Amino acid sequence: MSSSRNDWFPTPVWHFTVDNYQQLNSILLQEIDAEQQCDRQGEKWSNVLGWHSVNNLHERKHFYEFTQIIHKNVLEVAHFLRWDLQKFSLNITTCWAIVNGKLASNSVHNHPNSILSGVYYLKAPENCGGLFFSDPRPASQMLIPPVVEFNLWTLPKVSYKPYEGTMLLFPSWLLHGVEMNMSEETRISLSFNIGMIPK
Ligand SMILES: [Fe+2]
Repeated sequence: MSSSRNDWFPTPVWHFTVDNYQQLNSILLQEIDAEQQCDRQGEKWSNVLGWHSVNNLHERKHFYEFTQIIHKNVLEVAHFLRWDLQKFSLNITTCWAIVNGKLASNSVHNHPNSILSGVYYLKAPENCGGLFFSDPRPASQMLIPPVVEFNLWTLPKVSYKPYEGTMLLFPSWLLHGVEMNMSEETRISLSFNIGMIPK
């Protein structure tokens, strides 16, 4: 007797470590701080108690190096997924900062009209809240049997601890949120969306 198994429809989350991120982060943090000083109210999206900037930070002069890093990482994903970049190009459509103080979080959401989304961590103190992803197969939650332990096939949710200088990329349709910041220190990140331009 023999058996085999196929695992179809995997959902990727890519992570990248940015080299020498300290210098980049200090420039970006200065810019975000200046932005927050002149836009204290911020925008209201998924943020609960946190501050959300305007969404065009990728157009700012001091964000150029950051956008180059995004492009490089996005290309790596595109090649892995065998996307045909002769037929379309990928562009950063939006980029915004999130500043979560103590008890701030982000509710579950996805990013419509985008193909890839990402986040980059600038300040990630201990217990500042992970980025969690929910199982994108809602029907799989209809009947949940007890398990000895959760594994890749049964996990209802996964959480990524943020690390400064790390960038995550994921499909924009994947539902996600940010856990509450239980630290006394601020959690600061940059998020962005990638769109498609037909050639
Ligand atoms: Fe998001």
